[in-house]
Amino acid sequence: SLCWFTAHTVPFPSPSQEPGEIIRKALSEEKRVSTKTSAADLVTETDHLVEGLIISELQKRFPSHRFIAEEAAAAGAKCVLTPSPTWIVDPIDGTCNFVHRFPTVAVSIGFAVNQELEFGVIYHCTEERLYTGRRGQGAFCNGQRLRVSGETDISKALVLTEIGPKRDPATLKLFLSNMERLLHAKAHGVRVIGSSTLALCHLASGAADAYYQFGLHCWDLAAATVIIREAGGIVMDTSGGPLDLMSCRVVAAGTREMATLIAQALQTINYGRDDEK
Ligand code: IPD
Repeated sequence: SLCWFTAHTVPFPSPSQEPGEIIRKALSEEKRVSTKTSAADLVTETDHLVEGLIISELQKRFPSHRFIAEEAAAAGAKCVLTPSPTWIVDPIDGTCNFVHRFPTVAVSIGFAVNQELEFGVIYHCTEERLYTGRRGQGAFCNGQRLRVSGETDISKALVLTEIGPKRDPATLKLFLSNMERLLHAKAHGVRVIGSSTLALCHLASGAADAYYQFGLHCWDLAAATVIIREAGGIVMDTSGGPLDLMSCRVVAAGTREMATLIAQALQTINYGRDDEK
């Protein structure tokens, strides 16, 4: 069954055992792939299997808690964050990578109470790295403390982003023009690795200086937000205002200066809201 461990008196679920093993094994096997909101928004039987496993284990331990989970949402469940204790679950982040056997896939579990993110765990399934963060208690990768980069200058920055599921010509034009704006500002590079949560973990580790995206979801952001903040970083809305977990957009950076500069450079791509779907 799932492995559980106690960190600072709160039980953390560890996706590193059963879910991790299932995903690692399935990565190299044939998969049955279906599409969701677009031809690039994929799901497999393993996404459903792992989500069911995580939720049933959590429900056994916390029967009164609520859940927001990627595949349940795709099946029509409402994504509303109430003050009740709520688990926010992405069973496989990087499903497109998973389908192609590209070994950058993660399980992400965040936990919020009173609409405040309390802790998050993200498990890099192939490299067996477990990222954890708890509000006020730091962020760690396999037990080693994480610290963001202190870079404030775009012309010295490595920036991460993800494409998002919409591929219509107008969206693609905006996506490419945002990338072009950062390259014109002389960013050292802009990378797309295919997993929002793992890109955000690289930011938390100081391996990149900024991250931005339009079209990600609350289950891509919940756990990573705690981990980045606890590593000393900033997570904000692309308008420069406070993060709105349901707004399907984000800018994150090691410093407020960097996050603000990136936010100012971007044009908005409208993906609606998770809590209005
Ligand atoms: C997606 C991936 C992708 C990003 C999307 C995410 P999923 O998550 O992280 O890289 O562009 O916005 O929703 O669907 O693989 O869990």
